[in-house]
Amino acid sequence: MDHYIRNLFLFLSKNRFFTRLAKKYGLRFGAARFVAGETGEQAFNVIKDLNKQGLSVTIDYLGEFVDNEKEANEMADNSIKAIEAIGREGLDSQLSLKLTSMGMDISDELVFKNMRKIMDVAKENHVFVTIDMEDFARCEKTLKIFKTLKTEYDNIGTVIQAYLYRTETDMIDLSDYSPNLRLVKGAYKESPEVAFPEKVDVDENFKKIIKMHLLNGHYTAIATHDEAMIQFTKQFVKDNHIPNDQFEFQMLYGIRIERQLELVKEGYKMRVYVPYGTDWYGYFMRRLAERPANVAFVLKGIFNK
Ligand code: FDA
Repeated sequence: MDHYIRNLFLFLSKNRFFTRLAKKYGLRFGAARFVAGETGEQAFNVIKDLNKQGLSVTIDYLGEFVDNEKEANEMADNSIKAIEAIGREGLDSQLSLKLTSMGMDISDELVFKNMRKIMDVAKENHVFVTIDMEDFARCEKTLKIFKTLKTEYDNIGTVIQAYLYRTETDMIDLSDYSPNLRLVKGAYKESPEVAFPEKVDVDENFKKIIKMHLLNGHYTAIATHDEAMIQFTKQFVKDNHIPNDQFEFQMLYGIRIERQLELVKEGYKMRVYVPYGTDWYGYFMRRLAERPANVAFVLKGIFNK
């Protein structure tokens, strides 16, 4: 049953008609639990509050699969505004973004122009930028763009997904760049031709890449809500004398809030991914796909209105 629910929401996450509809009618159906607001001001207040509690942040101005230049330029300008606000207000926050929102599907020229504009301002404001990883079809290109930008800027990282078969090879290939990587299980609907269909295999590969990246001495963000993966990491760093400043945990805004605070109390760095903006639909659908309990929560919200 969970499998069908997951596929339904992953299918819906790519529906352009619903994406436009959601943008037009604002935060609805419990999305506010996972999205910090539609405006920068709302999101910055959330960040201040999280920082006060000892949590670091990476902020994401939501947007994906942008198919025209004007929108891609607007997305880049909004990311720049977010970086400037982080610098101005002295927030403990990085920035995350998706290359499809910067024009990757339109042209190489556009995506590089927008990324360099963002990276120049990020460098000036000492803000680290992570390129989120999207679906498999865009993985190769995303890594290629990341590698080029990494030779120009130090303050840039990307994401590696444990569910892809190609991941181990990518990690070996990326190692020469000493990358700061966020490791995740992977959130998109992929075919068994390219990704492990069974959770148990994804979990094993996740552990494998956590070990690889930490032992290579590179900074590692372990982005998961899975207690088994958190416990695995804690034991592994202890056994291998890996210092606390070589890694961090990351979770999404609105998920396992108490656990986030506990990890801070235990002395670990904990970063919360805080999305905001009007283009929340695809992000929200992927969160529903991950956990049927989230669907129950949303339905309760609708019928209790
Ligand atoms: P999984 O979904 O396997 O859940 C395992 C267990 O975690 C559950 O059984 C439960 O115990 C616990 N759990 C999960 N949700 C919970 C909840 N709401 N409350 C309580 N317990 C819960 N993906 C991607 O493809 N590209 C990207 O760039 C990113 N970026 C990213 C950033 C950050 C900071 C995070 C945390 C995640 C991503 N992801 C991502 C998403 C990622 O790929 C993955 O889809 C989700 O994190 C869900 O997988 P988990 O590792 O959390 O475990």
